[in-house]
Amino acid sequence: MSVESIIAESPRFREVIRVARRVACSSANVLITGESGTGKEVIARMIHDMSTRQQHKFVAINCSAIPEQLLESELFGFARGAFTGAMAAKAGLFEEANGGTLFLDEVGDMDLHLQAKLLRVLQDKQIKRVGENHYRPLNIRILAATHCDLNEDILRKKFREDLYFRLNVVPIEIPPLRERREDILPLANYFLKHFSVKHQIHGKSLSRDALKFLNDHNWSGNVRELENVIERAVVLSSEQEISLRDLDCIEEYEGDVNATFQRLCQQEGRFLSLEEVSRNYIQYVLQANKGAREKTARDLGIDRKTLYRKTHCRIE
Ligand SMILES: Nc1ncnc2c1ncn2[C@@H]1O[C@H](COP(=O)(O)OP(=O)(O)O)[C@@H](O)[C@H]1O
Ligand SMILES: [Mg+2]
Repeated sequence: MSVESIIAESPRFREVIRVARRVACSSANVLITGESGTGKEVIARMIHDMSTRQQHKFVAINCSAIPEQLLESELFGFARGAFTGAMAAKAGLFEEANGGTLFLDEVGDMDLHLQAKLLRVLQDKQIKRVGENHYRPLNIRILAATHCDLNEDILRKKFREDLYFRLNVVPIEIPPLRERREDILPLANYFLKHFSVKHQIHGKSLSRDALKFLNDHNWSGNVRELENVIERAVVLSSEQEISLRDLDCIEEYEGDVNATFQRLCQQEGRFLSLEEVSRNYIQYVLQANKGAREKTARDLGIDRKTLYRKTHCRIE
C-alpha cells in the first residue's frame, strides 16, 4: 500500500505518522508496538518507502510463524552442506535486505539463542552464513514489531534487555482503533471504495444505521477486523445500500458463541472454567483453520510454543 492511501484522521494516529516521517530520514532502528491489526506493518513499509533506502528491498519476516532452526537459516543463509538438505549455498534475508530494510514482525517470539545472534549482527554489522567461517559486511536497517509487552518479557528473562535497547532506539506505539475513533469512518469509506474496485461491484454505500454501528463498535480486531467486515458486506449485501443487517454477522456470531457456552454449561451442569473454555476455543479455531497451526497461533494472538503447550499439555 502506498503512503497516500494510509488513512490518518485522528490526532493520535497523525502523531504516529509524524514520528514515522521524521524517523524515516534517519537510519535509526524502530520498535513498533500495538495490538494485532492496528497497522504496524503499514507503518514499517511507510518508513522504508520514505527513507533513503527506498531503492533497496523491504524484506519482512514473521518470527512467530517459523520454527526456530528454520528461522535461523532463513535469516542468516547457509553454506552448501551446512546441514542435511543444504544442497546448495543460499543467502539469507539479512543479505537480501542489504542496503534496505529488514522488518522483524513479532520479534518478541524470537527465542533467546537467536536473539543473541541478532544482537551480534546489529553490533558488528556483519553476518556469517550457517556453516561458513567468514563474515560478510552488512548495511541494513531493522524495523521490529511486537504485540507483546517486551518489558514484561525482559523481567521474565524471555527477552534480552540489551537487544531491546538496540531495537528500541525510536519507539512507535500504535493505539488500538477504539482509542482513535475518528479513524473508523474514514477507514470504512476507504475500504468500501477499495473493495468495490477489487470485486468490481459499484455503487455501494453505507446506511446511517450501518455507519452508527461501525462508529460505536469496539473493534477488538482493530483495522484488520474493520477491513474484513467491509469486504464481506461489499460482497454479500444484496442492496446498493449496505444496511446494519449486512454487518451484523458479528452480532450473530457473538450470539452463536453465547448459545454454545450455554449449551456446554447445561451439559456439564456447572459453569465451565476459563481453562476449559479457552481449550474449546483453541480447538474451534484450529478446526476452522483446517489444522494450520501457524495461522491459528497468529489468529489467537499467541506464539507457536504457547499453542503447542496449550494443545499438548492437558490440564485436567
Ligand atoms: N491507517 C490505515 N489506512 C489504511 N489501511 C490500513 C491502515 N492501518 C491498517 N490498514 C490495513 O489493515 C490491515 C492490518 O494492518 P497491518 O499493518 O497488517 O497490522 P498489524 O501489522 O499491526 O497486525 C492491513 O490490510 C492494512 O493494509
Ligand atoms: Mg502484522
